[in-house]
Amino acid sequence: MSSKDPSNKVISINRRRGQKGDPFALNTRRNRGSKARVIAITSGKGGVGKTSIVANLGYAFTKLGQKVLILDADLGLGNLDVLLGLAPKYNLSHVITGEKAIEDILIEGPGQMKILPASSGIQELTHLTRDQKIQIFTQLDSLIDSVDILFIDTAAGISANVMDFNAMAQEIVVVVSPEPTSITDAYALMKVLSLKYSEKVCKLLVNMTTRPEEGREVFRQLHLVTDRFLDITSEYLGCILYDEKVTKGVKNQKIVSELYPDTQASRCFKDLARKLSHMQPGNLPEGGSNLFWRHLVQNNL
Ligand SMILES: Nc1ncnc2c1ncn2[C@@H]1O[C@H](COP(=O)(O)OP(=O)(O)O)[C@@H](O)[C@H]1O
Ligand SMILES: [Mg+2]
Repeated sequence: MSSKDPSNKVISINRRRGQKGDPFALNTRRNRGSKARVIAITSGKGGVGKTSIVANLGYAFTKLGQKVLILDADLGLGNLDVLLGLAPKYNLSHVITGEKAIEDILIEGPGQMKILPASSGIQELTHLTRDQKIQIFTQLDSLIDSVDILFIDTAAGISANVMDFNAMAQEIVVVVSPEPTSITDAYALMKVLSLKYSEKVCKLLVNMTTRPEEGREVFRQLHLVTDRFLDITSEYLGCILYDEKVTKGVKNQKIVSELYPDTQASRCFKDLARKLSHMQPGNLPEGGSNLFWRHLVQNNL
């Protein structure tokens, strides 16, 4: 990658997020006060392995004795349930329309992970209205204190939907593969996170590497440009090796960590879960839970 800013595109998300007077500005996760750790797994480019990572990482966390909740936030093209061989009757679209409460759509996956499935093929869900977002977030708040950790599997890209879910998380993990297009898209995503959402830190996870050194090299390349051009720090979280067993698992609708616990990808997921569990989550102030969303609703925002 050159040391020139690789993204000269004007990022035209015309939102007032983070500016004074914007209700959302008051409502970052840091004001939520919830005890659960909230981690968004996101990427610029699609197909880099977010859903596989969320499913396997979630499972690895259950093996560490943690109560795990996964939100499939790829609202228009959700496929976490398919990956896990589950066939949910209801999904988040039913919560948005008010037909179901969030508890009614919860399903259980491997390791007793709780999953909130998304729908597939409903285009309107890729552009949620403010009211629809409030509907999801307030209901989510009612669940969050019953778990230790919430993983959010976002859609790819830099849409407002994706960014809202990222902004709601305490920690953002940007997934990147060694392909140059994935690296430039990760840069574009970090640029939006920094410029429009005032994010200061994100963790970088390199998936589908042939060897661990390749993960470090991808991080080095990306870090070089983010460090130079953006006001956001990227931390190297680690890498997941390319492993054909991951795809074999998908074909069997079972996650690789369950089907082949000793294969190299499964070992990477276990190591990653252990590493993350030893890391301090972002700063959360003391206070009652659900402050964030209660505030939002009470103020009729
Ligand atoms: N570490 C890996 N090794 C081999 N294949 C992988 C790995 N991670 C993901 N894949 C494959 O890449 C494809 C895209 O993965 P997916 O998790 O659906 O990506 P995303 O959610 O980012 O679109 C799937 O076919 C999956 O099996
Ligand atoms: Mg996905």
